[in-house]
Amino acid sequence: MSGMQTPVGAMDWAWRLGLVAGAVPLLALAVWHCTDAFHRAVFACRRRGTRATRLPPGHMDLPFVGETLALLWYFHLARRPDGFVEAKRRRYGGAGGEGVDMYRTHLFGSPTVLVCSPASNKLVLQSPGSFGTGWPDPELVGLSSVINVHGSRHARLRGFIVAAVNSPNSLRSFAEVIQPRVAAPLRSWAAKGTITAATEIKKVTFENICRTFVSMEPSPATAKIDEWFAGLVAGLRAFQLDMPGTAFHHARKCRRKLNSVFREELDRRKKAKNLAAGEEEGGHGDLMSGLMQMEDEHGRRLGDDEVVDNIVSLVLGGYESTSSAITWAAYHLAKSPAVLAKLREENLAIAKEKNGASFITLDDISKMKYTAKVVEETIRLTNISPMLYRAALRDIEYRGYTIPKGWKVIVWIRSLHVDPKYYDDPLSFNPDRWDVFGGGERICAGNMLARLQLTIMLHHLSCGVAYFPHPRPIDGAAMSFTEL
Ligand code: HEM
Repeated sequence: MSGMQTPVGAMDWAWRLGLVAGAVPLLALAVWHCTDAFHRAVFACRRRGTRATRLPPGHMDLPFVGETLALLWYFHLARRPDGFVEAKRRRYGGAGGEGVDMYRTHLFGSPTVLVCSPASNKLVLQSPGSFGTGWPDPELVGLSSVINVHGSRHARLRGFIVAAVNSPNSLRSFAEVIQPRVAAPLRSWAAKGTITAATEIKKVTFENICRTFVSMEPSPATAKIDEWFAGLVAGLRAFQLDMPGTAFHHARKCRRKLNSVFREELDRRKKAKNLAAGEEEGGHGDLMSGLMQMEDEHGRRLGDDEVVDNIVSLVLGGYESTSSAITWAAYHLAKSPAVLAKLREENLAIAKEKNGASFITLDDISKMKYTAKVVEETIRLTNISPMLYRAALRDIEYRGYTIPKGWKVIVWIRSLHVDPKYYDDPLSFNPDRWDVFGGGERICAGNMLARLQLTIMLHHLSCGVAYFPHPRPIDGAAMSFTEL
């Protein structure tokens, strides 16, 4: 009897497995259709009785994850970040014609519109009343940070930051403080022979930011802070799954540690002020004490959380971006001998004019036109901020489409920087073209400081050092430097 049962049992299982194998994809397909249909239905209900418009073309994909995994796949695994948008352009045929180029999607847990053309990017970046900031997790960038606040609070903080880091006076003093600290490591790299450019440049940039922003000298404590910033950066655009082992979870932990270390520094300064009555907040004259002393029109100072949120944001905004830009500048120059020769010519001429003085000033920098173009071109091609985050504060109609209130908006600025419609041969490094730091009222508050740091590094690189790279930036760009 049992001999008869086996084939029947096996068939039974095969039948069940076949059913499951067939049903799972069908079910997934149904969920995929229903998710998009659900969002379209909600939109249609909300817009009933108003002028007929549509959601931008696209698809919301699966519930919750949406197209996040596809986006991360293009960035992390395929290493073709523009592939995500290119696939949409191919599928939806440019979406609404020239100048629109926007798509509905679901990313990082929110319904999102992706905007990719100069006209639609401008609409979003230059309509602050219609779009607020919309980072996937505002807590990671700091709830009361300049990046997250709006209106008069934003204008006041931004005014202070621009004056503190971007005004000619502050740039002059940054140039004095950081220059010896750029030139000395360059000499030591030459002595070492081969270095991993990404690691060493990051170290120099971080040490300079720590000194100028929070008066911290390199120590085991700053090494820890550096590690936490790396963890925070890794989670900024990660999938928002707050579970042990995920980048997002780790980033939240790092953010808490950074908050507490800068809070301790703040308390220490306040205590020191109490001990030395009359002296301003520790008297450091750095960005942190500036934030502690900043007053609004009613004489009200920033709260402790606001100081901490903003100092973390400023180090975050000014550190990783500048160090990657410097690394990529070195990489592109190494691969473009003609550009390097032109850069050397300009910088050697400036060095000669200075009659032996080894450090350049802000006035020298204003004369270095070709070096400025190298800086801009590096930032264009590297695309350090590939996308900017906003959220629609009301329904926004644009050329027959609506960006619904509450949806996130991702401004895909990298597509402009590498689109053959806007640049000839967009992937080639050609400094003889142009402007890169975002746009509108949130245009980078440290753009002049970033340019200054890159220029100083390029000056000392091109005047005193020749180098021969292995062209593999994925390994951190191993380079050898020789002192001339
Ligand atoms: C190569 C280096 C840098 C690049 C490519 C860069 C890029 C950008 C971009 C594209 C934005 C606009 C963000 C948006 O619209 O949402 C921005 C904002 C900002 N950046 Fe930079 N940045 C750089 C260096 C710096 C430095 C050195 C600082 C120093 C403090 C800084 C501080 C800021 C701040 C505070 C904001 C927010 C401005 C606001 O919301 O009003 N950045 N940056």
